[in-house]
Amino acid sequence: MVTATVPENQVKIGPTKLLINNEWVESVSGQRFETINPATGEAICDVAEADAPDVEKAVQAARNAFNSGEWRKMSATRRGELLYKLADLIEHNIDELARLETLDNGKPLHDSYGDIRLVIACYRYYAGWADKVQGKTIPINGPYFCYTRHEPVGVVGQIIPWNFPLLMQAWKLSPALATGNTVVLKTAEQTPLSALRIGELIIEAGFPPGVVNILSGYGPTAGAAIARHMDIDKVAFTGSTEVGHLVMEAAAKSNLKRVTLELGGKSPNIVFADADMDQAIVGAHHSLFFNQGQCCNAGSRLFVEEKCYDEFVAKSVERAKQRVVGDPFDPNTQQGPQVDQDQFNKVMSYIESGMRDGAQMLCGGHRVGDRGFFIEPTVFANVSNDMKIAQEEIFGPVMSIIKFKDIDEAIHLANSTMYGLAAGVWTKDITKAHAIANNVRAGTVWVNCYHVFDAAAPFGGFKQSGMGRELGEYCLEHYTEVKTVTIKL
Ligand code: NAI
Ligand code: MG
Repeated sequence: MVTATVPENQVKIGPTKLLINNEWVESVSGQRFETINPATGEAICDVAEADAPDVEKAVQAARNAFNSGEWRKMSATRRGELLYKLADLIEHNIDELARLETLDNGKPLHDSYGDIRLVIACYRYYAGWADKVQGKTIPINGPYFCYTRHEPVGVVGQIIPWNFPLLMQAWKLSPALATGNTVVLKTAEQTPLSALRIGELIIEAGFPPGVVNILSGYGPTAGAAIARHMDIDKVAFTGSTEVGHLVMEAAAKSNLKRVTLELGGKSPNIVFADADMDQAIVGAHHSLFFNQGQCCNAGSRLFVEEKCYDEFVAKSVERAKQRVVGDPFDPNTQQGPQVDQDQFNKVMSYIESGMRDGAQMLCGGHRVGDRGFFIEPTVFANVSNDMKIAQEEIFGPVMSIIKFKDIDEAIHLANSTMYGLAAGVWTKDITKAHAIANNVRAGTVWVNCYHVFDAAAPFGGFKQSGMGRELGEYCLEHYTEVKTVTIKL
């Protein structure tokens, strides 16, 4: 039973309008929509609802800011200073932002703090890059001087999801701004509030009008208008693989805008019998249950070697049963609610599907409490890799454990998926660790750890988990165009 005592009155709600050209405006239609507190199912407040005409206004503001004025003339060092300033302002307002994030998303408050620390690090990391993006001189044949310039792509459309609202905003905005682009960012309809508060801080930091425009709104309306817009030069999307296909299609059919996608996953987490068992059990638990299981890179296919399978399953179930589910504002809470009714329904239907397909449910499986979208930590054993729960993204607190015999089988099963976002391996044998790292087709491999993120380390997917990389130096190439200049001597 969840006795949620969410202190809504103690959370300061920031702006609820659209941010266009450094002004807070209502939507063209005047429409607004409610954002829900997932811990109670009740509305927090309503926010302005952007649609195509608002995207149009935001793109015009971003285009003006890109083509002329302060932003274009600003030195790269000054751009970096603005990003540092924004990071400082976020740090200064961390308590308020963490509470707002927890209220709107439902994640435990200490997890919101964890996210925001990564947000701050990300802004500082790319602030440092701002004046270090440079081209080459190229010794071509003949009496010529040839060099390259790395120029901003232009107006960038960014569409983000609800599972890490602040962190996704930082991953998107910081490299785009460091490299001199201007941005139209659409948040997820489930979680508009924290990004709008960042919008206030962006103005306070001193970013010129039109450089960052923030729209709240739905996917098929505002999101689709961004994906097909003829004057957006690049779209960066994080969300479902299904919508990733739509975004790429819209980009192809409109103006061939550049596309980067960070999509779903069904990441294998492979435990060998020679691993430090206690570490592996804690790591596997965290890899799946962190953030209510709502991570694109969750270790959602847990492969356990036959020799340690029974022990591992028993201990994993014990640990899942101890997980504290409840009021996300309670400091003891480890797991809050799923983000909304749709996600709740989706997860519950996968639990039913696992039971129907003959997987063995060893704990969980039910709703917690009678309001909000809480689900018990659930563990399925005897899962086979071709079951629906092992192939489709559940995005909830549902662990699926699959037995394997040897390393070849582990690699084969790990790669038997349309996804390729991340993977984990737990072993003391360096040779096995390298074999997994080299042969599993995934954008990130964690050895004896999981969910280790750093602004400097690139992240992204193989196969249908996406294209392009976020974070690190690698991300910069997606926000710049290379221009070749050749001068006759
Ligand atoms: P979604 O992919 O529909 O939503 C993500 C973002 O895309 C939101 O901002 C949404 O408004 C926007 N969007 C939706 N339809 C669009 C369209 N036609 N054109 C442009 N933008 C559009 O994901 P949703 O419905 O919230 O969740 C469904 C499933 O997607 C989840 O259960 C999970 O499996 C997966 N997902 C994966 C995420 C990741 O981090 N890779 C994040 C969120 C969801
Ligand atoms: Mg959707």
